[in-house]
Amino acid sequence: MEKVLAFDTATDELVLGLGLVGPSSGDGVWEMPGQGDDTLFSSDAFPFIELQAKADMPCRRRANVELLPKAQELLTQEGLSFPDIDLFVVGRGPGSFTGVRIGIATAKGLSFAANKPLIGASTLDAVAYRAWLSGVRGLLGVAQDAMRGEVYPGIYNLEDVGVSREFEIETVEKPAACIKKWKDAGHIDLQLTGDGLKKYADDFKEAGFSSFLPEDLWTPSSEGLLYAAFSKRSVVEGLRKSVHLRASEDLEEIGNGHEAPLASFGNPQLVLPVYTRLSDAEENELEEKGKKRPHNFALTGVDEEAALEPYQYRPMKTSDVEEVVQLEAATYLDSAHTPWSSELFLQSLQPHNENLKTSWWVAHKAGEVVGFAGAQLSGGSFEILDIVVAPAHRREGIATKLLARVTYDGQMFGAERATLEVFSQNEDAIALYKDRGFKEMSRRADYYGQDQDALLYKASLPLAMPKSHRAPQPARSSLAWPQSVLRDSHKREADSLTQLEAASELVLAIETSCDETAMSVIDAHGTLIANVVSTQIDFHARFGGVVPEIASRKHTEALCAVLQETLEAAGRHFGLSRLFVSDLSAVAVTEGPGLVGALVVGIAFAKGLAAGANLKLIGANHLEGHLYANLLENPNLQPPFVASIVSGGHTMLVFVKAWGRYEVLGQTIDDAVGEAFDKVAKALGLGYPGGPIISKLAEKGDAKAIDFPRALLHSRDYRFSLSGLKTAVVTYLEKQDREGKPINKNDVAASFQAAVIDVLVAKALDAVRECNVKDFCVGGGVAANPALRNAYEKKLAEYGVRLTAPPLSACTDNAAMIALVGLKDFNEKKFSDLSLDANPNLSL
Ligand code: KG4
Ligand code: ZN
Repeated sequence: MEKVLAFDTATDELVLGLGLVGPSSGDGVWEMPGQGDDTLFSSDAFPFIELQAKADMPCRRRANVELLPKAQELLTQEGLSFPDIDLFVVGRGPGSFTGVRIGIATAKGLSFAANKPLIGASTLDAVAYRAWLSGVRGLLGVAQDAMRGEVYPGIYNLEDVGVSREFEIETVEKPAACIKKWKDAGHIDLQLTGDGLKKYADDFKEAGFSSFLPEDLWTPSSEGLLYAAFSKRSVVEGLRKSVHLRASEDLEEIGNGHEAPLASFGNPQLVLPVYTRLSDAEENELEEKGKKRPHNFALTGVDEEAALEPYQYRPMKTSDVEEVVQLEAATYLDSAHTPWSSELFLQSLQPHNENLKTSWWVAHKAGEVVGFAGAQLSGGSFEILDIVVAPAHRREGIATKLLARVTYDGQMFGAERATLEVFSQNEDAIALYKDRGFKEMSRRADYYGQDQDALLYKASLPLAMPKSHRAPQPARSSLAWPQSVLRDSHKREADSLTQLEAASELVLAIETSCDETAMSVIDAHGTLIANVVSTQIDFHARFGGVVPEIASRKHTEALCAVLQETLEAAGRHFGLSRLFVSDLSAVAVTEGPGLVGALVVGIAFAKGLAAGANLKLIGANHLEGHLYANLLENPNLQPPFVASIVSGGHTMLVFVKAWGRYEVLGQTIDDAVGEAFDKVAKALGLGYPGGPIISKLAEKGDAKAIDFPRALLHSRDYRFSLSGLKTAVVTYLEKQDREGKPINKNDVAASFQAAVIDVLVAKALDAVRECNVKDFCVGGGVAANPALRNAYEKKLAEYGVRLTAPPLSACTDNAAMIALVGLKDFNEKKFSDLSLDANPNLSL
């Protein structure tokens, strides 16, 4: 029998239970379900499931605080602790996005740290099973509250033998639409449940529905969750997803012991939330998809010349169709494939057709379309309809990026796999698809002519991480999870292990406050032994700034892959193939300030790790991290000194009297400096992030060309104001436009940057004089600006003050700086407990 800890935080009910699961035949050892399901099921719909203890309780918006302490309490009551658990189960939603992510990130942490499998189950199913367990039979309509005036609907058929779904995938809709649909389908006698009824029961009654389950059954329960997770349908589907979807030769390879048999069953990386809708920013973008390009159309994405990034990506618009059709026709000239007509493209792009779930993206070079790709949802499958790259731009990774954009949308539509058809002699394309985890499913001989076969390819979503990729992308890992589940310390290289044992204690640091998922490992002497940053900038660039919901989603996807990579890098330091979480002593995580939804993901994961492997937990201040980043450049740096933190979220001068003793001398009263850079870049049509682009352009421009205001320069205090400067730039651009005068982007950038630098430097000089210090430090993304660093250095030197600036890569957000703060707290034994929560407004 396996001890299972199951929880779900998708709704206002904290669902938490401890159960036993085993083979339905009674005794015997239950093995992880293998290629056949027979070990688990005989003819039954369920294995043996028994709820041992539960702590289900209402818990509105406090899941991150309550979940792990309550789980610990529950385990203690039963004489257990986290490492005793054999298997974790988590509800994947649909529900509150943040709530779901708290549960999933915590579960990923527990599972990863304890080296035990994680299984995800639908929250909607858990509600249906709760009804079934209470004896309800017949058709059941579940309507879960989706907030914002919508519900997650689902009809289930409850029979003695079990529960089956009458729908394919979870969706979201207005209650009125759901009521109409169910009524039109003749389901007026449907028995209703779900916490959506708390808001919409009257609407159902008005429409003639009269059969409601008792209100105490409207939420998921821990027992319902266990059944949802281990019903034959869920397990078989989970298995099919992990193994059976693979092509047959691949299975053979697995059978030869090349790879563990169940490469992905139980892999915590693959357990992701069920969202049913995109972030608002993406929804709006789709909404706009059909609109005409405005005459003052500004390029989205990063300007190629400025950012040295040659290509940008954005969703296809109707105004692109003309160019797209030309490219399509040229590509398929003399080929057996009939090129798509503009009518076909326009039909496929229809933004307001709710039944048509398509995603089309173009790659462009300064506005010229050089490639495009599109796909359409069909059942649970996202069918790639077309991927085209202009011949002159091939082998530049464009198809890979287009494929990533399109399949990401597919995943967000709820697709579980992607399919496509490829010409058997198109070797480049085949190599690309294989790299992303596509497997051949079938072959249509001579489809395109003699010896010209069509191959049908299939891959599970999210796609595998491209092997050729430089940075760790938030993508499915290619690592075989059970290999690490079957952890065997004897296998660890004996010599290196001695080295590891002799090493000091190790602290893992996690940073997810904004748009970088970053982790690092530091030893007790302060030596960084691993440092990994996975940036999401790509996903935000087209919106001109960080979209919080996208940030939270990407962090959730990236957690396990980034940790895996970090532990491998740390392992190499000791000559081992990897470290395990249990080799660490503590985990430090950014507690704030930052985006609350993004912080919460890192914190929940860190707490899961701490609980799963018995590590100390440390909450770290992100701003303190930016200060500590200076130690990476100058380990001997000692307070007192004055520091300037200039980033996308902050602009402040700090008097550091001692490590841990800070006086904030002043800060911005409106925008942050980085924000001003970003907004000016956006106004210039240069894309995101603006800082690096502006500073590049400024090198070629005349800083005296335009006289922009220096706000509060003579205010005799340490307040800053940047919003007036940003407005002045925008006003200037509009005026030039109105008067039909050209805009010299380089001059605008240089003049804007000079205005910023003048104020920053002047106030810095005042501060070092008033505080009477000989050291000055900087931190934050804008501190990477070379002109600013030079200006500081030169001016400060005139007063005999030394400038320390972090290495360029440590100016923007990273986990090395969090590791330094974490190590200080570790040495001072300043620990947090499992109720640690995000503090988005944390100050120094
Ligand atoms: O510290 P950071 O990575 O994130 C926050 O905590 O906000 O800072 C990001 C900000 C962005 O606004 C970006 O435009 C700016 O730092 N930045 C720069 C430069 N590199 C990044 N600003 C000016 N010049 C740069 N070279
Ligand atoms: Zn920062």
